[in-house]
Amino acid sequence: MSTTPARVAIITGGSRGIGRQTAGRLAADGFAIVVNYAHNEAEAQAAVDAVTDAGGQAISVRADVADETEVAALFDAAEEAYGGVDVVVNAAGQMSLSPIADFDLDAFDRMLRTNVRGTFVVNQQAARRVRGGGAIINFSTSQVGLLFPSYGGYAASKGAVEAITRILAREMRGRDVSVNAVAPGPTATALFFNGKDEETIARFAAQPPLERLGTPEDIAEVVAFLAGPGHWVNGQVVRANGGVI
Ligand SMILES: NC(=O)c1ccc[n+]([C@@H]2O[C@H](COP(=O)([O-])OP(=O)(O)OC[C@H]3O[C@@H](n4cnc5c(N)ncnc54)[C@H](OP(=O)(O)O)[C@@H]3O)[C@@H](O)[C@H]2O)c1
Repeated sequence: MSTTPARVAIITGGSRGIGRQTAGRLAADGFAIVVNYAHNEAEAQAAVDAVTDAGGQAISVRADVADETEVAALFDAAEEAYGGVDVVVNAAGQMSLSPIADFDLDAFDRMLRTNVRGTFVVNQQAARRVRGGGAIINFSTSQVGLLFPSYGGYAASKGAVEAITRILAREMRGRDVSVNAVAPGPTATALFFNGKDEETIARFAAQPPLERLGTPEDIAEVVAFLAGPGHWVNGQVVRANGGVI
């Protein structure tokens, strides 16, 4: 029988990429982990196995972050399994790239559904349920500042995430819960690599003064700081990008 963990983290999009790395990193800090995913159960199980093989506690729960019924059930599952929720990392996200003039509006709607509605729905449940001393951590992108052509739809969706983050931080007054966003630059995950050739990847990697792509580990460290010792950081967007802007 498992013991009741000291702290509990829900990680949306915890099955792959930055979210999966964050699951392992927070588990190493003693959090029990709820790995959320939308489509790929095998990847979610692999994320859970990585935590439990290292001696931690984890379960996986499928939920589309934009579906309020499924997200409520995700939080219910976390409370039933581990007794409460202390940290919510909302890493679920999608990226569609195209010049604005040519953007497929169905793809735009799908991306905004996950990135904006999803963030809003997850933050709504988090605002109701995260315990005192906890943290809510959303994901923006450094493209909100970089403004590269073809990132118009994606950056628009993440601009909304930044607004939600800053306003929720103020709405949480009196609850002792911090609300921040991490805004990575190009980071070595499927979301970044999809559709890019070697030359394009090398060009992105050369941009920051630290002269490489970010790794999921780089970003998970920032999340772990905000989830724990960085509690005094509140209402901020932390641009974690090797100094590209
Ligand atoms: N990688 C970068 O360069 C970069 C840069 C800046 C910001 N970001 C942001 O960082 C976050 C993590 O990105 P990543 O690179 O780790 O992406 P990724 O490797 O593509 O992983 C995306 C994760 O989100 C989940 N997901 C997608 N749609 C979902 C939905 N509707 N409901 C629940 N889960 C959903 C996926 O699960 P399934 O496989 O089950 O769908 C997967 O676990 C995203 O918000 C992204 O916008 C990434």
